[in-house]
Amino acid sequence: MTEIPIPHFVDLFAGARSLSERLRQMHEQLRAAVPLLDRVACALYDESEDRLKTFLHSTLTGEALRGYEFPLHESRSLLALARSGEMRVLDHIPKVIGQGSEHARWLQQQGYQSSFTVPMYGQGTLLGFVFFDSLQPEVFTATVQRDLVLACSLINMMISSEMATVRMMLASTQIARDFANLRDFETGAHLERMSRYARLIARAVAPRYGLDDEFVENIYQFAPLHDIGKIGIPDRILLKEGSLDAAEHSIMETHVELGCTLVGKMMGDFRLNDLPHSAMIHNIVAYHHELLDGSGYPKGAKAPDIPIEARIVTVADIFDALTSPRPYKEGWPTDRALAELQRMAEAGQLDPHCVAALAQERATIDDITRRFCDTP
Ligand SMILES: [Fe+2]
Ligand SMILES: [Fe+2]
Repeated sequence: MTEIPIPHFVDLFAGARSLSERLRQMHEQLRAAVPLLDRVACALYDESEDRLKTFLHSTLTGEALRGYEFPLHESRSLLALARSGEMRVLDHIPKVIGQGSEHARWLQQQGYQSSFTVPMYGQGTLLGFVFFDSLQPEVFTATVQRDLVLACSLINMMISSEMATVRMMLASTQIARDFANLRDFETGAHLERMSRYARLIARAVAPRYGLDDEFVENIYQFAPLHDIGKIGIPDRILLKEGSLDAAEHSIMETHVELGCTLVGKMMGDFRLNDLPHSAMIHNIVAYHHELLDGSGYPKGAKAPDIPIEARIVTVADIFDALTSPRPYKEGWPTDRALAELQRMAEAGQLDPHCVAALAQERATIDDITRRFCDTP
């Protein structure tokens, strides 16, 4: 068994490549030492919802498992690993695998014979799991395990450092708001809800637009930044009770350009211009008020120029704005808001697939609005 050339891993942290690309590169390098390693995948744990979600994968043969999530407490074996911090080796999967779950069915269909599962932690809490699979039995010997554990800590570092970056940007915005003494104009609950609606839509349109799980997760992470530019809008306009006049409207609309300048500066200050997803962050901020027929602002951009991440965030943001109460209006019932989105889609303003995706998820919408309501 050859040792894995550790120095080669260093360039996993260089350059503007997505985590998925870097995982594929790492898989290639690992195969130099473990040629029978057919799949490396990483699932993320969302503690607030107790759900484990597919996130990154590098799958050599067969069909990849994507867009899949389930409550962690439903998997006794993974839950036990999460709690104990132990790793699990399965040498003969078909002999031990249970029936019933989509994951079990998928594992059997792919013909994986052995696997090695490692829980990942960040700051004492469960971050997720790394799964290594092989089409051959008994691949994960003690030596192989030792090498793969090293790879796991690198995967953990790659993911954690990206997440820390996003959290740092959100925290900086919060500090800027507090510093400017702004009251909570965009409630935390609005951001919680709209980012979840955005993820819901992204997951549903993923096959049509070719979005991977990492892209879907990033939309969820970055959506709360959409109105970051509002910290530059004067209180008398931002917090005005009642509708804005034309002059006030045009000042309000500058929050998009202010937002672009701000994220550009933050990414420069934090040296994040290389971050693979800086383009997604910029697109969400820059295009979240653009409409596909060119009637939005600030650019009046049209359909082909409006990226999918912005189309998704726009639908999620409008839906939450319609269903939330404002000083000058009641919150609309879900049906009425969905009908309005449908009308806008038919008028060529919103992406019809994003609107349809949201409309199909009534139960989840109700769950999100119940869990993250504005009033205690
Ligand atoms: Fe906005
Ligand atoms: Fe918003």
